[in-house]
Amino acid sequence: MDHAKEPLLEIRDLVVQFPSQSGWLTVVDHVSFSVGRNDIVCVVGESGSGKSVTMQAALGLVQPKGGRVTSGSVKFAGQELVGMPNRQLNRIRGNDVGFIFQEPMTSLNPAYTVGDQIAEVVRRHRGLSRRDAWKRAIEVLDRVHIASAASRAGDYPHQFSGGMRQRVMIAMAIACDPRLLIADEPTTALDVTIQARILQVLEELQRESGMSVLFITHDLGVVAEIARSVVVMYGAQVVENAPVDELFRSPRHPYTNGLLEAMPQVALDRGQAPVPIPGVVAQAHAWPQGCRFHPRCGFCEPSVCASAPVALIADDHGLVRCARSSDLRLALGQAATERSVSAA
Ligand SMILES: Nc1ncnc2c1ncn2[C@@H]1O[C@H](COP(=O)(O)OP(=O)(O)O)[C@@H](O)[C@H]1O
Ligand SMILES: [Mg+2]
Repeated sequence: MDHAKEPLLEIRDLVVQFPSQSGWLTVVDHVSFSVGRNDIVCVVGESGSGKSVTMQAALGLVQPKGGRVTSGSVKFAGQELVGMPNRQLNRIRGNDVGFIFQEPMTSLNPAYTVGDQIAEVVRRHRGLSRRDAWKRAIEVLDRVHIASAASRAGDYPHQFSGGMRQRVMIAMAIACDPRLLIADEPTTALDVTIQARILQVLEELQRESGMSVLFITHDLGVVAEIARSVVVMYGAQVVENAPVDELFRSPRHPYTNGLLEAMPQVALDRGQAPVPIPGVVAQAHAWPQGCRFHPRCGFCEPSVCASAPVALIADDHGLVRCARSSDLRLALGQAATERSVSAA
């Protein structure tokens, strides 16, 4: 097998459930996608669509939270992670796979300096001496462009601003030179300019190190900044998967189109107000029959969309889960053309 061509992370038919008053709910429903080597993949979708749980499952963190992976596979560099003993997973997490969560204050310990916390990770995974681990901490703080890294390493988390704390989180996540970095909404709590700088830092790190990045966000603006390919999730399922340019130029799923129309920048370009997607996000305790998006979809044809489940189908563009995909190509393409014409 040619390992260089095999994806670095390959998620296949992943199903994750959490308990509820009415029994186990499926919150990740046969999700498949992969992250190549030297790749940046964004997973996008409204809140509650199953993005974070997919990532937690990939890191073996669903069971500790009371959930279960009922089927499917997560392969990292060819190794199956589903069912892997925790001891072995611990060796991969934080080492081969770095991760960043949304809330830096919940992941950083307020009682230790940031340098000590980064050094501790490196000592645990790489067995470096105290002195070398401290050196490495300064080195990675410097790589995420924290000024005067050597002295700031001795500061405590509360002495950093929100944006700088998020950089510390990135530094910690890359301290062991991971092959894959998983970042779950790492910039959501930050204002737009600080967010843009963090995305630049991430992109630069990716380019220099060749690591792969799996980036989770609910914000298509962020996707446009950083992604090479995009996985769109709705109602626990993947509804579209395509290269970023394709997705923005010609979305194939009405949900993706709706996310685009809701983007302030897109609306501004058309001299209009952003158009939010009507209705509320589908919930796991009551998935709509047929296409899960059909109750909110302006292109819905009830006889086609509201009864049978819809499969994820490959076309020349990527993958799309819409029964009317070939009929809609023109209509969605049209909307996209208007977008790019008015943007020009
Ligand atoms: N620890 C948990 N216990 C029970 N339900 C959960 C837990 N984590 C997530 N869920 C449920 O799983 C669904 C998907 O959540 P999540 O993956 O966090 O969405 P997203 O990250 O896309 O906003 C939601 O309905 C959420 O309520
Ligand atoms: Mg989330």
